[in-house]
Amino acid sequence: MKLFLDTADIGEIRRAADAGLIDGITTNPSLISKVAGSRDPKEIYLEICEIVDGPISLEVVAIERTQMVEEGRKLAGIHENVVVKVPLTEDGLKACRELINSGIPVNVTLCFSVSQALLAAKAGATYISPFVGRIDDISGEGMQLIHQIRQIYDGYGYATEILAASLRHPLHVVESMMLGADCCTIPPKVLWQLAKHPLTDSGLEAFLADWDTLEVEL
Ligand code: G3P
Repeated sequence: MKLFLDTADIGEIRRAADAGLIDGITTNPSLISKVAGSRDPKEIYLEICEIVDGPISLEVVAIERTQMVEEGRKLAGIHENVVVKVPLTEDGLKACRELINSGIPVNVTLCFSVSQALLAAKAGATYISPFVGRIDDISGEGMQLIHQIRQIYDGYGYATEILAASLRHPLHVVESMMLGADCCTIPPKVLWQLAKHPLTDSGLEAFLADWDTLEVEL
């Protein structure tokens, strides 16, 4: 299972990359807008690509097919690891097919239904990004979507990878893995939450207190 960090925050990306814990990065226009300030987003994208050696999803902001393809090609020109992210619209699906046919990997984003995921697979998408948390937000069952897409992709032999997105807490990650998602993308906060356990903290505290009674050094 691939673990991606869902952020454009360079500090957080360095922290996770230094720990050797992440396989790639996903970004979106909202995430880049939080960190860019007066910087050109393309500079930040390149910096991310130089830190993490893995798939880096960068999203187009055009909504018309030809412009999406043009933007996608520019983004792909930033670095060989770029995956172009397009929204799951009619134009997005057409742009996906065109980019895939020219050898550029594509992550189809903003997926909220199995029927959308089917069309992304038909368009040859490298990744499909179902937004689990946003479905939960409107009283739906986000995880059910992961399960259904897994069944359909396996049943019909689609190679598109399921990239569980909009994951908000550790249980989302665990459930995505149990249901067979190929990748999970998570905010930095959730990455570090995955490591935490109160019994680890109290256990370590007790070990160190016991060691201290020896009054020796290693
Ligand atoms: O990768 C998509 C993801 O960032 C969306 O997450 O929490 O904004 O729904 P969220």
